[in-house]
Amino acid sequence: MAKVTAATEGTRTLVAGLEESGPLPAAYRSAFLAVDRADFIPDRIWYGGDEKDEDTPLDRAMDPQQWSTVVYDATMPIVTQWDDGAVMWPEQGVRPTSSASAPTVVADMLRVLGPEPGDRVLEIGTGTGYNAALLSEIVGRSGDVITTEVDLTVAGQARERLIATGREARFGAGMANVLTLGRDGGAVAPVDDRPWDRVIATAGVPLGRMPYGWVHHTRPGGVIVAPMFADFTSDPLVRLVVGNDGVARGHADSRLTVGFMALRSQRPNRAALNRVPWDAETADLTHTTVDIWDPLHHPDWCWAVAVAVPSCRFDTYPAGTRSASRLVLLEDPVSRSWASIHGQEGHGELAVRQAGPRRLADEVFAAIRWFARRGAPPLHSWLWEVGPDRQTVTLPD
Ligand SMILES: C[S@@+](CC[C@H](N)C(=O)[O-])C[C@H]1O[C@@H](n2cnc3c(N)ncnc32)[C@H](O)[C@@H]1O
Repeated sequence: MAKVTAATEGTRTLVAGLEESGPLPAAYRSAFLAVDRADFIPDRIWYGGDEKDEDTPLDRAMDPQQWSTVVYDATMPIVTQWDDGAVMWPEQGVRPTSSASAPTVVADMLRVLGPEPGDRVLEIGTGTGYNAALLSEIVGRSGDVITTEVDLTVAGQARERLIATGREARFGAGMANVLTLGRDGGAVAPVDDRPWDRVIATAGVPLGRMPYGWVHHTRPGGVIVAPMFADFTSDPLVRLVVGNDGVARGHADSRLTVGFMALRSQRPNRAALNRVPWDAETADLTHTTVDIWDPLHHPDWCWAVAVAVPSCRFDTYPAGTRSASRLVLLEDPVSRSWASIHGQEGHGELAVRQAGPRRLADEVFAAIRWFARRGAPPLHSWLWEVGPDRQTVTLPD
């Protein structure tokens, strides 16, 4: 918690942006007004990129007006580090490795987590420290926030910001209620006997690999929220409630799908889809009338394939981009198996080429048929369970 100060104009703009889709709960609104995002965003950032376009580098000193516009834009995610810090601004590396999520996503995740005054919260992935500051405001003086960041440079910078804004004490506990740790969040336990009430991961957790310590150290009835991913796709934001039997159970949020950078030690093998020789004559060639284009653009179907077909990545290319007709590529980066599905929309048969030890297209077709037979239930139908011995995600009968 910080001293109460008047919200800046920028902060009010950000809150107005958040409320375009409906009012925030009062406690969360106060928190967003109390925390100035500008206090947590570095001077040199990258913003505005997507799957197609590169991010734009921006330096506060060179263009303070644009920097403020970006920082107070409620929908704007901001990249703060590439390649674990191996490349320096303004250069862009291969993968973004630290960021401030869009405030709209931060607010939605808080809504799913539901922290309350007095709660003890663990956050995995401190990043800029912005979310830890919001949590600090929400849990108040009687609660506390432990936030942990695997990158020591990022952790150190976030800690300084949390100290500078009065939320973390430089020495000992003091009146502040945040503690920043420079550690892998998979192995963090409460500092005393009191368990977590809430756990929030702001980095993606791979399917079947949630650190069980998060469940073990959360009280029965406590809530864990984590963005989950599989090799095929990311998407579900899962909310688990810890049971008396030491198993956490829950579902994906029905409204929110997210794509987060993965926990550092759990990053998936990168696919090299841009190098797949998709029309190679040496590949096995068959034909199909099953068009998987639409299913692959729908989170419910994509997730079903993700569960059924592990270690497989995909990309889709509209006609005129990589080939004259539209193209779907699949690749298992481990076995280097690949498949391509190629042809004109609505024009009969599609060519299917497959190479390597796996028949990836056949596996995906089988998953699509299975999911169709199950009636294609929505993402939130899946039941997630995380226990000491096994983790499952299943469609109840
Ligand atoms: C999307 S950013 C977090 C955003 C942040 N909560 C904020 O408010 O700015 C994800 C962060 O998770 C961190 N991270 C990745 N793996 C981690 C791990 N195993 N333990 C702790 N932090 C991790 C990354 O270094 C990165 O800074």
